[in-house]
Amino acid sequence: MIFPMIINILILSSSAHLSTANSEITPRPFEKIYAFGDSYRYSDGPGSATGPSSFAYVSNLPYGQTFFHHPTNRYSDGRLVIDFVAELLSLPYLPPYLNATADKSSGVNFAVAGSTAIEHEFFVKNNLTRDITPESLGTQLSWFTEYLESQGCIDTKATPQKCRAVFDEALIRVGEIGANDYGYTVGSSVSDETIQELAIKRATDFLEILLYKGAKYVVVQGLPPTGCLTMAMYFFREDYRDNIGCVESVNKQSYSHNTIYQAKVEVLRKQFPDALIVYADYWNAYSTVIENAHNYGFKELYKVCCGSSGGKYNYDSSGPCGSPVSTHTTPPFQYLLSIKKKSQ
Ligand SMILES: *[C@@H]1O[C@H](CO)[C@@H](O)[C@H](O)[C@H]1NC(C)=O
Ligand SMILES: *[C@@H]1O[C@H](CO)[C@@H](O)[C@H](O)[C@H]1NC(C)=O
Repeated sequence: MIFPMIINILILSSSAHLSTANSEITPRPFEKIYAFGDSYRYSDGPGSATGPSSFAYVSNLPYGQTFFHHPTNRYSDGRLVIDFVAELLSLPYLPPYLNATADKSSGVNFAVAGSTAIEHEFFVKNNLTRDITPESLGTQLSWFTEYLESQGCIDTKATPQKCRAVFDEALIRVGEIGANDYGYTVGSSVSDETIQELAIKRATDFLEILLYKGAKYVVVQGLPPTGCLTMAMYFFREDYRDNIGCVESVNKQSYSHNTIYQAKVEVLRKQFPDALIVYADYWNAYSTVIENAHNYGFKELYKVCCGSSGGKYNYDSSGPCGSPVSTHTTPPFQYLLSIKKKSQ
């Protein structure tokens, strides 16, 4: 599933967790954030978004209408989780890495909407390239490496001081990654087991490299209950629902993915005892919102507020939000899934 939607909940109290563990007195604020993951689109410029056609509409209204009052190339009506994290730490919103002129002194966002954990070549090999974002976690790592080199940091052994300057006051957030890998292979001959194994391996290897390079404070986010996303709700029959009303098999899949991923994170904690690695439980945060929707002001949990076709979910893969045929309802902030987007 592609993850354009971002729920306006804060999944982690990163500053509290991370600082209390490290100092007894005053929490020391982070000076920078480096973010990775999916669903945060970089752009070369307004209206010139490259990549898959279904990603061509993020520069159009209604994206951004409620909070920023104009589209900001976020796949959201409002702020993304990373924006709330930046606010909590009194830091500016992170610029995307590919914006060469942006001020990157308070951090960089390397995440890309539609990004996969597994390298693009895998999808090419399996004939699954239609409308897939080519940038994977590996791409994000090469951008980050490029960035580190520009700061003189190779790794903690070769260039300890330069790397300390990059990492000492930095929060690293490895946001949700992997849901697109499953989404892109739905209905193909690639099994979910293969995706699970490869996606977790790629994400774990990625973390290991970050830690080896010198990362000290890392927040690792798992998958949400992907069976609650509109695409899953639309494609699976009504009798395959679980106790929170979502697609049972898909939710089980993301749950088990997270369980294995957390075990791998635990191994990394032992391997890098000087680093602090926090797991952000997206799955339970999201299900808590689903189960207590009214307390959070949400009226629609599964239907998209911006899409086409009408019907129960207003879902039509050929009329993504922001495209000429889509319509949107107001107010979008009462919708958990504020936009719909084409997937394959
Ligand atoms: C890049 O960053 C600069 C400086 O913050 C900003 O003015 C510009 O709009 C950004 N470009 C894009 C395409 O977002
Ligand atoms: C991909 O498509 C090509 C050409 O249609 C075909 O020869 C090949 O077997 C396909 N590969 C897979 C993994 O389906």
